[in-house]
Amino acid sequence: MSKNIKAVIPAAGFGTRFLPLTKAQPKEMLSVVDRPTIQWVVEEALDAGITDILIITGRGKRAIENHFDRSIELESALEKAGKHDELAKIRKVSELANIHYIRQKTQNGLGDAVLCAKQHVGDSPFVVMLGDTICQGTPNCTSGLIEIYEEYNSSVFAVMDVLSSETDRYGIIDGKIIDENIWHVSQMIEKPEPKAAPSNLGILGRYLFTPDLFEYQSQVVSGVKGEIQLTDAMSLMAEKTKMLAWRFPGKRFDIGTLEDWFKAHTDLVLDSQWGSDFSKWLNKRKI
Ligand code: G1P
Repeated sequence: MSKNIKAVIPAAGFGTRFLPLTKAQPKEMLSVVDRPTIQWVVEEALDAGITDILIITGRGKRAIENHFDRSIELESALEKAGKHDELAKIRKVSELANIHYIRQKTQNGLGDAVLCAKQHVGDSPFVVMLGDTICQGTPNCTSGLIEIYEEYNSSVFAVMDVLSSETDRYGIIDGKIIDENIWHVSQMIEKPEPKAAPSNLGILGRYLFTPDLFEYQSQVVSGVKGEIQLTDAMSLMAEKTKMLAWRFPGKRFDIGTLEDWFKAHTDLVLDSQWGSDFSKWLNKRKI
């Protein structure tokens, strides 16, 4: 079903909150457990049945392309050394998906990055998956959005409850609940002060849009922080067409903050093959 849906992964931001860690490497390449953040995102798209993936990069993001590409020298060195397990691991990454890249020339904000995908996406519905955000759940967040899109035939994006004191970190929605965990959205405000927030439902970084999003995005001028915001295009779109928000029941980590990065490591290690040893070590440490 999802074969016509393409994925757009914006990964062009500077990662200023992580400096100096992100001085020489993209924040999307920061590792969580055993793989870079952006690989978690690509794997979520693949799990949702999406095979056409476009990553929006920028200057200083070459490591992302190298990560998903083959590394012939390394492969032949591993082969010569008889390191077959390691060889299989790196080959697996380069065979994960056929990934396309477009560079955003100036960092003008998320909306501008998404607009770079217009020609590649064409007339298909598409998902936008923030390259610094890991979501975990069943169904996975992107699959859940596809299911809702197929049922309601309208654009839909994922939200989560955010603390009232933290509304100024998110796009916040206003709307009416129409089904369990589903809202018909009337408007969105990007990063409102707590007093101005219409709810505590924050946009978490997974979206599914019909292609008319691009028309609205082209009308948007710079907004909050002087950047071209995706939320502003979504708000224009919600005035004209039905737009839904889905409260994602799983976990979400924003690898744009150190605190969430640490939490993602701890949480996802506990779910991994290293979980039981790590948990024993953590318990001992408490004593
Ligand atoms: C972006 C979006 C915002 C959303 C957030 C989720 O903001 O503009 O609406 O809530 O991602 O992480 P950013 O975190 O890039 O400032």
